[in-house]
Amino acid sequence: MPTHYADHAWHGPVTVEENVTLARDTYRIRLACPEIARRVLPGQFLMLRLPGESDPLLGRPLALYDVVAGPGGQPHSIDLVYLAVGKMTRLLTAVGVGATLEAWGPLGNGFPLTPTKHLLMLAGGIGQTPFLALARAYLGLQRYGDPPRQVVPAEQVSLCYGVRSGDLLAGVEEFRRLGVSVHLSTEDGSLGYRGLVTDLIAPVVRQSAGACRIVCCGPERMMQAAAEIARQLGVPCQVSLESPMACGIGICFSCVKKIRDGSGHWDYRRTCVEGPVFEAADVEFY
Ligand SMILES: Cc1cc2nc3c(=O)[nH]c(=O)nc-3n(C[C@H](O)[C@H](O)[C@H](O)COP(=O)(O)OP(=O)(O)OC[C@H]3O[C@@H](n4cnc5c(N)ncnc54)[C@H](O)[C@@H]3O)c2cc1C
Ligand code: FES
Repeated sequence: MPTHYADHAWHGPVTVEENVTLARDTYRIRLACPEIARRVLPGQFLMLRLPGESDPLLGRPLALYDVVAGPGGQPHSIDLVYLAVGKMTRLLTAVGVGATLEAWGPLGNGFPLTPTKHLLMLAGGIGQTPFLALARAYLGLQRYGDPPRQVVPAEQVSLCYGVRSGDLLAGVEEFRRLGVSVHLSTEDGSLGYRGLVTDLIAPVVRQSAGACRIVCCGPERMMQAAAEIARQLGVPCQVSLESPMACGIGICFSCVKKIRDGSGHWDYRRTCVEGPVFEAADVEFY
């Protein structure tokens, strides 16, 4: 049975170690949970719930941002980065150090760690969150999972990251410090290229003469556009879907998406257990 199946997930209380502002409406929360930190892979996610709350009653999915080592050097804590958009994420902004939350994880399949010369990570809005750990894995700086997975290092790791306005950019310096080549865009022109982040794909892919793999996370329209550009450029592309989820463990089917199989037919797949990462060419976006 694949290790990402939800019945392998750990469920329990986690202690908040930090909850700090990174950018406008954007926060990084650090949770002590060695059981998840030890096993989680880039692209997997947690369901996080506020205990004692009946509104919202259900947990919410948040992607792994990074794993933090404890004093003994072993994986100890999990960093998540969240945009305060609705009920749970707004309440989360007021949660203090020492508070207890409820978590399930690790969940989902995560990114395939296929060798590539150039990994291009394409993020829209809060879609950059799954990419810090992925970049560290592909730069040979960190091994994730139990047993730890070895990734053939990429020669180049790039991040194309677009937001509506510059004050929403979160974690850019962390990516740069790793050695990631960062290309920014804003819709209002306040920072970087003025326009859509998908406009940045083709020039960056051409830097490596097409020997590139794209991974993409963000609004569905952006991922759909990226899938089409990748098809035209002839480079592989995977997307990490952000479908709303009620259970996160494969029971409720609230997260289904139409996914094509090899024969051209489609079927509904659950983003929480069969995703969130899918081949871009297989996704029926609308
Ligand atoms: C696999 C996966 C990984 C994810 N990773 C991250 C991550 O790392 N970081 C992150 O920030 N997000 C992430 N998300 C998205 C995140 O799960 C959602 O933003 C979160 O569930 C929102 O929960 P909430 O209770 O705050 O919002 P909710 O209250 O559930 O609202 C959800 C959305 O609906 C809108 N909304 C709410 N009420 C109304 C209303 N009355 N009318 C109109 N619109 C309304 C809100 O503005 C919001 O955009 C991920 C999603 C998935 C599936
Ligand atoms: S969220 Fe319940 S099946 Fe996916």
